[in-house]
Amino acid sequence: MNFIPYGRQYIDRDDIESVIETLESNYLTTGPKIREFEDAIADYCGAKYCVVVANGTGALHLASLALLNKGDRVLTTPNSFLATSNSILYVGAEPIFVDIVQDGNIDLDLCEEELQKNSSIKAIYAVAFSGNMVNQKKLQYLKNKYNITILEDNAHAIGAIYNGIKAGSCVNSDCSIFSFHPVKHLTTGEGGAITTNSKDIYEKLLTLRGHGMVKTLDMKPWEYEMRVLGFNYRITDIQCALGLSQLKKLDAFCERRVKIAKRYDKAFENSMITPLYRYSGKSSYHLYVVQVDFSKVNISKEELFIKMREKSIGLQLHYMPINKQPYYKSLGYGTEFTPMMDRYYEECFSLPLFPKMSEKEQQYVVTSLFEVFNV
Ligand SMILES: Cc1ncc(COP(=O)(O)O)c(C=O)c1O
Repeated sequence: MNFIPYGRQYIDRDDIESVIETLESNYLTTGPKIREFEDAIADYCGAKYCVVVANGTGALHLASLALLNKGDRVLTTPNSFLATSNSILYVGAEPIFVDIVQDGNIDLDLCEEELQKNSSIKAIYAVAFSGNMVNQKKLQYLKNKYNITILEDNAHAIGAIYNGIKAGSCVNSDCSIFSFHPVKHLTTGEGGAITTNSKDIYEKLLTLRGHGMVKTLDMKPWEYEMRVLGFNYRITDIQCALGLSQLKKLDAFCERRVKIAKRYDKAFENSMITPLYRYSGKSSYHLYVVQVDFSKVNISKEELFIKMREKSIGLQLHYMPINKQPYYKSLGYGTEFTPMMDRYYEECFSLPLFPKMSEKEQQYVVTSLFEVFNV
């Protein structure tokens, strides 16, 4: 069996043709594909505006510059990739780590407790972990009651729908971000996007993406003005051409992911391997995470990873708690009371899941797991 990673891109002939077409055009960057991709994403998500950027981390950085000020306190999750809370630090704001609930998402009830205790909290950065959108009703309630800023990190969740609300539509948030890294639902190699319904935020993001530079019609032809300290987070037309072609297949990718997830759900019924959550229609399944009580099985998690690797299967752990990383510890983090996250880190791991994964490969993953656990 060839190596089965936890995630992998799906590229077909149409994608390759789209890239070639752009390579043969007059614009490799700052050309028409940028706006075309932005409009297509905004349209797909049902948001008013979209800004595409070089990667998901850049999307988080720019969104944080637009939403936060130095010293702002932001509630966020320890169960994410580093970039989520790093983006809060980039702008001199202060992340506050809140525990998670069973499905791996931030505990919004605990967020409310924090908001009641501390009226200076400015924002919540909520991650739709593994593609499973955060509770939109609760998000709306918190936003209205406490007048806070909300960013949804939907890097895992493009294509997800929660009670009719699409990931990235920003119905209950100020900004949402996506990542187009190859393991995600759709890829541009590296890439990211921010969606928003605010014209003001949109204009700030556009300026910040390009060095803080502005050109207006009343200026002389060569003139430009730098009004804020911006960056170069541009994405190329080549990448956007790939993204546009991938976006056409996004619903099919999500369907494939859901189908695979449902098969895993079924395979683990009545076993010691428990899905982090079972299919309920609100996840677009970037990841399929399972939970095992390692005190009740024959091997440790480390041995499991090694043995599965020997069988050419790549397991992964999403994520190590961010607040316990050495850098965060050096800032004084790491001792927060997060029993759910601690348990998650002890017991959970991600199985291979990607649209091209065959039924045979999936069956092999399941049998290998049971074999290694000796059940
Ligand atoms: C939840 C989350 N947010 C942000 C990012 C950053 O995205 P990128 O790798 O495109 O910079 C990732 C990437 O893995 C992610 O998983």
